Amino acid sequence: MRGTNRVEGLWSSWFLNSDEYMGNLAADREWLSPVSRYPHSTTPTSVDTHNSDSARTSVLFVCLGNICRSPLAEGIFNHLVREAGLDDRFDIDSAGTGAWHEGERPDARAAMVATKHGVELGSRARQITSDDLDRFDYVIAMDRENLRNVSRMVDSSDSDAEVHLLREFDEEEGDEVPDPYYGGASGFETVYEMLHRSCQTLLERLKAA
Ligand code: 4NP
Repeated sequence: MRGTNRVEGLWSSWFLNSDEYMGNLAADREWLSPVSRYPHSTTPTSVDTHNSDSARTSVLFVCLGNICRSPLAEGIFNHLVREAGLDDRFDIDSAGTGAWHEGERPDARAAMVATKHGVELGSRARQITSDDLDRFDYVIAMDRENLRNVSRMVDSSDSDAEVHLLREFDEEEGDEVPDPYYGGASGFETVYEMLHRSCQTLLERLKAA
């Protein structure tokens, strides 16, 4: 565990739930410039072995609301880890950068697609905190807006969490996991497939790390 995260007060004062943040979210939707810290490549990325002294690897999946993409990613990754008999090696969770859905179960459409594929979703929505950056080795963002917000938190703290865009690990070409919230059920199937492919490769990389 690392020391107290000095960004907490600042972070919670402007980012969490603030009108300014809500306004920024709207502006951020226009933001598509490359992220220099973790440039995307269509070749599945490698992960550092900075946590190789620990027997367990902790992974936090992050989206905006924590009711669609990141709970699905958490459930799929959990499922793959269990299938591989690696439960004792991983701690897995998810969170949102926003707090609108705190305490809620995953969106019904996410739950439906998960059930169809035999994946259990056990999460309740919560907002990412600075403590998460101390607890988790890897923070995996669904889109560039999430990546930018999480990277900003990490940069302002003494966390050495490794931050990635999930689709860095997708064997198929792609960049973000699109937000399916305002679309129909078919969008959730597409998102499920992206998440599943990406989580498979992520697990392979983390097993090898
Ligand atoms: P998620 O999807 O980030 O994948 O959980 C969303 C869920 C809710 C909202 C946006 C995205 N919302 O604006 O309430």
